[in-house]
Amino acid sequence: MRYCYSLTESQIHLIASLNEHENVGFEIRLDTFSAEPQWDRLRAATDRPLLATWRSKPHLGQAEPKTRDSMGWDWRRAALKAGFDMIDVELDENELADKISAIQKGRAQVILSHHELGDNAGIKDAFTRAMDTDANILKIIGSGRETADLERQRDFYRRAAGRELVHFYMGGEFAASRVLCLLYGGSFTFLTPDPSRVVAPGQLTLQDVNEVYKPLDVDPEAMRLFAVIGSPVGHSKSPAYHNGPLKEITPNALFLALPAADEADFQTLRRTFPELRGMAVTKPMKEIAFSRATEFADPHSSNLGAVNTLLFRGERVRAANTDLLATIDILKQAGDNPTVRVLGFGGLGKAVVRACIAGGLACQICNRTPGRVPDDLGSDVSELAWEDRHQAGADVVVQCTSAGMAPYEDVSPLERMPEGLKLLVETIYNPIETRVMTMAREAGVQVLDGMALFNGQALIQNAFFREIAAR
Ligand SMILES: NC(=O)c1ccc[n+]([C@@H]2O[C@H](COP(=O)([O-])OP(=O)(O)OC[C@H]3O[C@@H](n4cnc5c(N)ncnc54)[C@H](OP(=O)(O)O)[C@@H]3O)[C@@H](O)[C@H]2O)c1
Repeated sequence: MRYCYSLTESQIHLIASLNEHENVGFEIRLDTFSAEPQWDRLRAATDRPLLATWRSKPHLGQAEPKTRDSMGWDWRRAALKAGFDMIDVELDENELADKISAIQKGRAQVILSHHELGDNAGIKDAFTRAMDTDANILKIIGSGRETADLERQRDFYRRAAGRELVHFYMGGEFAASRVLCLLYGGSFTFLTPDPSRVVAPGQLTLQDVNEVYKPLDVDPEAMRLFAVIGSPVGHSKSPAYHNGPLKEITPNALFLALPAADEADFQTLRRTFPELRGMAVTKPMKEIAFSRATEFADPHSSNLGAVNTLLFRGERVRAANTDLLATIDILKQAGDNPTVRVLGFGGLGKAVVRACIAGGLACQICNRTPGRVPDDLGSDVSELAWEDRHQAGADVVVQCTSAGMAPYEDVSPLERMPEGLKLLVETIYNPIETRVMTMAREAGVQVLDGMALFNGQALIQNAFFREIAAR
């Protein structure tokens, strides 16, 4: 078993279909059962490995800890007798050594579990105590809090050499640690059959592992690692976008979402993952990424102060801003010499303005907060007061504010379309149809949604990554 489905009482019926997939086994979460299961029927439902778990509340389960020695132990012994392959015991259970010995005598493997639900203060001690036991598989689960958790994860795997260890960090921002645990030699990682009803935050789906990350195809010694870094990063579309094309170059390519919020996190990632060959960079890391660049892939990105792509080759760090490069392509479709109004002058707005300058296009910058636009952008660039954003005089509006982004779908940066406007380029892609897009369509203005820029920049970025993955 490399993928363990954690199933509650209401999900037991899913065994019949999940059974058909390779490398799967099933954790039966006994603490969620309202009545004792029919053990023989459960055992007969699959010839895949079965794990019996009585998860107590301090370990993120539903059972009171005091029931572990009574009903919880009785049920686990019944599972052992019925031929379950693995039995879970918690590190803080009474008579731990006796329970471990009884399970092993019954010819099942012991999974010794510990869960840290706070700041991971006790995790090193738990790891040390677990290493001192005779359990077959040690399962030490932390709560993802900081990038340094990923460094600790790798360190624990180094220190556990020779012992079977399942060790990762919960939480959507740390889902990558569930993939990494397999690459570090972990026995298995958990999957959920239903992402909307996970028993622990961040659980992966079979689609994630079979169609996106494919961790079992990666040779850890030859791994070519890529990552999107930023905070938040858990909902990034980048792993789904980049893994497929990179794996066409080599099955040893892997693209993960790794959390990073500051310079120290950046250094932690570089230290922890010497395999990193490329990064897609998102907020708030774009300026930090720029400061780490030793060279630029194009002349325009070097003026920006922020980049969204880094490529590592030895000591060399090559940088690019593919938002800028994709915008240049998009604006080429906007007819001859359009005048472009850029709403918003944050990270993306700046890249779009640079794209206009690179293309020799007249550009008006219109930002809600005045005084953020430098004077030295050239004669083709002018500043327009926010109050004047509906004025005639623009052929294209590129919407670079966060106004209208989920969960504020009702907000629009424009109340009406400027007269004579031909094209609205939206950059928000969540939601895919924003209020301002609907208004533009109703006014007969051509519209490009946020996926046009996302896909354009990701395509350019992926070409950079593929080139470096092939080396
Ligand atoms: N499609 C893509 O590939 C792609 C790539 C990158 C970003 N984006 C999208 O682009 C947007 C901006 O990203 P960013 O990185 O530039 O963010 P950022 O650096 O935080 O800048 C945010 C900008 O939005 C303005 N703003 C925020 N709320 C506003 C409101 N209610 N009304 C008017 N202006 C408002 C800010 O103006 P102030 O200066 O007044 O605060 C600022 O100019 C986000 O929605 C993001 O989803 C899309």
